[in-house]
Amino acid sequence: MISSFHFSSLPRIIFGPGRRAELPAQVARYGDTVLLVTGTTSIHFSGHGDEIISSLREKGNTLYQESIGSEPSPQMVDDIAGKYRGSGIKVVVAVGGGSVMDAGKAISAILLVDDSVKNYLEGVGVKEHPGKKIPFIAMPTTSGTGSEMTKNAVLSEIGEQGFKKSLRHDHFIPDAAIIDPEMMLTCPPGLTATSGMDAFTQLLESYLSKQSNPMTDALALHGLKLIKRNLLRAFLEGENNLEARSGMAIAAMFSGITLAHAGLGLVHGFASPFGAHCNIPHGSVCGTLMSTVNSMTIDKIIDNKKNSAYNKYLIVSKIFSDFKYKEDKEYLLAFKDKLEHISNVLEIPPLDPDIVNTGVIRKIVDETSHKHHPVTFSDEELELIIRKRLARTA
Ligand SMILES: [Fe+2]
Repeated sequence: MISSFHFSSLPRIIFGPGRRAELPAQVARYGDTVLLVTGTTSIHFSGHGDEIISSLREKGNTLYQESIGSEPSPQMVDDIAGKYRGSGIKVVVAVGGGSVMDAGKAISAILLVDDSVKNYLEGVGVKEHPGKKIPFIAMPTTSGTGSEMTKNAVLSEIGEQGFKKSLRHDHFIPDAAIIDPEMMLTCPPGLTATSGMDAFTQLLESYLSKQSNPMTDALALHGLKLIKRNLLRAFLEGENNLEARSGMAIAAMFSGITLAHAGLGLVHGFASPFGAHCNIPHGSVCGTLMSTVNSMTIDKIIDNKKNSAYNKYLIVSKIFSDFKYKEDKEYLLAFKDKLEHISNVLEIPPLDPDIVNTGVIRKIVDETSHKHHPVTFSDEELELIIRKRLARTA
């Protein structure tokens, strides 16, 4: 029996090598005054930043630029929006990784609302955003969060009273997403690894989610096949392998669509409090917890074919297996090994016990939710998962 579901709209998707050249035409749909939001370094080293700036200036656009050097906080968004409110910005363009896209999305959403973005964050503020915004174009340079497809922007404040929460509204789905895999060729291996593990986690968690539906399942399964084929190749030969970059770009894009409609599981349940209390990038948190969370989840369902996740884990395990015609259990056990192998090849770093100390672990366990995850873990098990990923001290 298929349960009822809904599916929201998507951005105008412009995908393919070289299609960054279409940015000026997309900008022209909205006007000639552009706020360009980028990262601080790689966009300029790669030459894409200069190329994009020149192409917009050649068309007579007035261009303002801001850069984002870390995961965005409400203060960063408020500062930038305050600077440009009333400047006649007609379109915001974000060129960068997930943090840059989230920042751009939040800036576009708060430019027309003379207020702090914090007041509209889920679980932090109490105000309801009216949904009015400046048009927003996303151009990802990493294959990870899938923010180019989603209606939320994640903002965080790190510290004792920290939070990592979403600004969310149906109107915040980007107006256009220009996804050019050539822009990902210069993404460094470490970032390729952690952002790729984020996309992998999002696809797997939304596929296993209790909220999944036939459309998210179809996209998630195809995305997982692309991860199997392309994640390690993008890491090992990312500078030259446009096919691997293209596959990962599609996988990340699909992961954004599936997470927005089906929700996520325990790895992302952990990621929110980790982001609030530890200065560790989101992709690193997901990458480092992925193998352990799934291994312990499989242990809970491996003898229970009635669990709804059993069949789905089996399907995914077969996608990632290197053999055929075996018993179910062998596929499931092999998938656990495969996840560990992928994490090792990608050199995903363990958690630093000086940052993730006992007090922080207790806070994270307290604040971790995993309502869409296919099995339930006790607080002791949640703590064990984190401790298994702590770096061994000499
Ligand atoms: Fe994520």
